[in-house]
Amino acid sequence: MKKMNVAIIGDKFMGKAHSNAWKQAGYFFDLPIQPVLKVACGRNAEQLKEFAQRWGWEEVETDWRKVVGRKDIDIVDVSTPTYLHHDIVIAAAKAGKHIYCEKPTAVSYQEAKEMYQAVKAAKGKHYINFNYRRCPAIQLAKRLIDEGKLGRIYHWRGAYLQSWIMDPAFPLTWHLRKETAGAGPQYDLGSHNVDLARFLVGEVKSVMAMTAHFITERPLPDESVARTFQAGSKGTEKGKVGVEDAAFMTLEFENGALGAVESTRFAGGRKNYNYFEVYGSKGSILFDMERMNELEYFSMEDPDYAQGFRTILATEPVHAYVANWWPPGHAIGYEHEHVHAVVDFLKAVDSDKEMTPNLYDGMKVMQVLDAGLESARTGKKVALKDME
Ligand SMILES: NC(=O)c1ccc[n+]([C@@H]2O[C@H](COP(=O)([O-])OP(=O)(O)OC[C@H]3O[C@@H](n4cnc5c(N)ncnc54)[C@H](O)[C@@H]3O)[C@@H](O)[C@H]2O)c1
Repeated sequence: MKKMNVAIIGDKFMGKAHSNAWKQAGYFFDLPIQPVLKVACGRNAEQLKEFAQRWGWEEVETDWRKVVGRKDIDIVDVSTPTYLHHDIVIAAAKAGKHIYCEKPTAVSYQEAKEMYQAVKAAKGKHYINFNYRRCPAIQLAKRLIDEGKLGRIYHWRGAYLQSWIMDPAFPLTWHLRKETAGAGPQYDLGSHNVDLARFLVGEVKSVMAMTAHFITERPLPDESVARTFQAGSKGTEKGKVGVEDAAFMTLEFENGALGAVESTRFAGGRKNYNYFEVYGSKGSILFDMERMNELEYFSMEDPDYAQGFRTILATEPVHAYVANWWPPGHAIGYEHEHVHAVVDFLKAVDSDKEMTPNLYDGMKVMQVLDAGLESARTGKKVALKDME
């Protein structure tokens, strides 16, 4: 079988999720290309060595530029904090690599445009990891919409709610600095939600939004802290939080539908509540990531005496990707979405076909998100065409 060498840049949360996906994909799916876990890159040499040993990466390197410049690397997996995506993706595109990049695309729409220009001019395939698209229940939502089961779409109602920074002692990690994250939950969480809105409803035309800042100063992190969900900080020195704590947007879609997107890290009790509802003239669907094997579906075409939301357990072999896993009812999880993305990515590379979502989608999502931040700043509705 054809082999391709993968380099991963970033060895923490997404570093693990992606390493697992590169390894597992071939155990469960017939791959056209065998990924070879060639080199892992991270900032802390000691932690990196341990990471590479655990996951089976052959080599380690702390300078990402050296990794991207290596002739024997075919695929660059970008799993670093967001501010590094721009430079790594552009360097990887120029070096002719295939690119597998985490979301949000960049720290601004402008940067995302530059990244898209670079990959468009290059020959490698590119993917942006909006992994939720590859959840079987969300694939089922897409199928129901494409088959016309919802009729004309009227509404998108999305919410992505978490609570991991509610403690004021949670330190000022890279996620809370504008220069490293670009924005707060608007980018981190809203990017996933807007991607799903574009996937299921269509292109956005205009945006109105508000943001809120609840905690404006936080303790500086210990050197070793990137993100631990309960992390406090031993130090007393504080720094300014550079991003919003919550962002709520309303969306007008090109097809006339109206949408809402709520993104916050201040929703106590919500851990990874990635939730949406789609309402159409013939039916409705609801999805909640915390119950990710299920899709709620309501059909107005059911007889009136039997109408009501039904829960579909999307674990049958007819549901996307499921036949390669377990028998019906044996649920799958978050990590499986990453495996599905790797499978589709390798197929796209092998067949020389575009993969979606790619850096074009990543750029379009950033346009919506930046329109939202602009609207929050000015208090005015922002049309996407004015952002070109
Ligand atoms: N798709 C998802 O569900 C999802 C979930 C979480 C995070 N993310 C995204 O993934 C990206 C990484 O987030 P994370 O949570 O894994 O972050 P993290 O803080 O857990 O890990 C970041 C990694 O980047 C490495 N790094 C930092 N600077 C570097 C440099 N100059 N050179 C090489 N390596 C460097 C660090 O050593 C660390 O291993 C972000 O863009 C984030 O938004 C996506």
